[in-house]
Amino acid sequence: MNRYEGRRALITGGGSGIGQATVLRVLAEGGAVVAADISERGLRDTVEKAGAHADRLTTRVLDVADEASVRDGVAAAVTALGGLDVLVNAAGILRSSHTHETSLEAFNRVLQVNLAGTFLVIREAVPALLAGRDAAVVNFSSTSATFAHPYMAAYAASKGGIQSMTHALAAEYAKRGIRFTAVQPGSISSGMTDGSGASGQSMGPGLPEDADMSLFAKLSPALGQGFAGPETVASVVAMLGSADGRFITGTEIRVDGGTHF
Ligand SMILES: NC(=O)c1ccc[n+]([C@@H]2O[C@H](COP(=O)([O-])OP(=O)(O)OC[C@H]3O[C@@H](n4cnc5c(N)ncnc54)[C@H](O)[C@@H]3O)[C@@H](O)[C@H]2O)c1
Repeated sequence: MNRYEGRRALITGGGSGIGQATVLRVLAEGGAVVAADISERGLRDTVEKAGAHADRLTTRVLDVADEASVRDGVAAAVTALGGLDVLVNAAGILRSSHTHETSLEAFNRVLQVNLAGTFLVIREAVPALLAGRDAAVVNFSSTSATFAHPYMAAYAASKGGIQSMTHALAAEYAKRGIRFTAVQPGSISSGMTDGSGASGQSMGPGLPEDADMSLFAKLSPALGQGFAGPETVASVVAMLGSADGRFITGTEIRVDGGTHF
């Protein structure tokens, strides 16, 4: 498939996990990509994995939670690509704790990176997307936005916010040619879920030591043998950002192997 030939994509969180898998998928389908991430090491790993496709890959160290960094980074990406057709907002963090022991600073940090970060990148990218071809934005919600995940109140709130924001943006820009969709991953092995991916027995690192695991109604996907690889979400993101998704906007697709029916 060469759905991305002639398409220009900016992908945040491109240094690890699902964002990195999306970078590799879009490159494999012929696209030109700027991978942005706060982790320089992660971006180096992405370049290495891109192999022969690395000539269509540019990297940019960028902090989605920092307004100046996003402004400079998105402008540099648009210049490097000569425009912008696709934006994928995969950058995100997960922090778990008992809510009554969570500081305002910790709560705000999750909202700042996941929710405000998604807003900032979109705000800076929209002018270029309005001039792009068949423009599409794919945001990252989570199963936690619609199914209860204890000890993750800030994370769930940030992802619920992203989902609602995606709907609002879809309405605002539909007639101006930009589609906005979201994916809701769950049970995907990645940097975020490291240490749990292989067994599928944990919801990620950092759960309180005395976490009551019985509160997680279901832990394992019905499909397969445990957590799936990040490429299982990247393929859906690639579809949403391509012409195959041309009649999809203002909605989300859950990719969790049936962990939550
Ligand atoms: N893995 C899952 O099961 C799962 C489930 C639901 C949602 N998600 C979402 O998928 C997206 C990708 O996560 P992943 O699972 O691949 O985890 P990951 O940790 O492997 O990747 C996240 C990437 O975001 C980057 N990042 C973090 N803070 C940043 C910042 N301030 N600025 C720029 N980059 C930053 C990290 O460096 C990392 O490369 C996230 O939005 C996450 O919330 C993942």
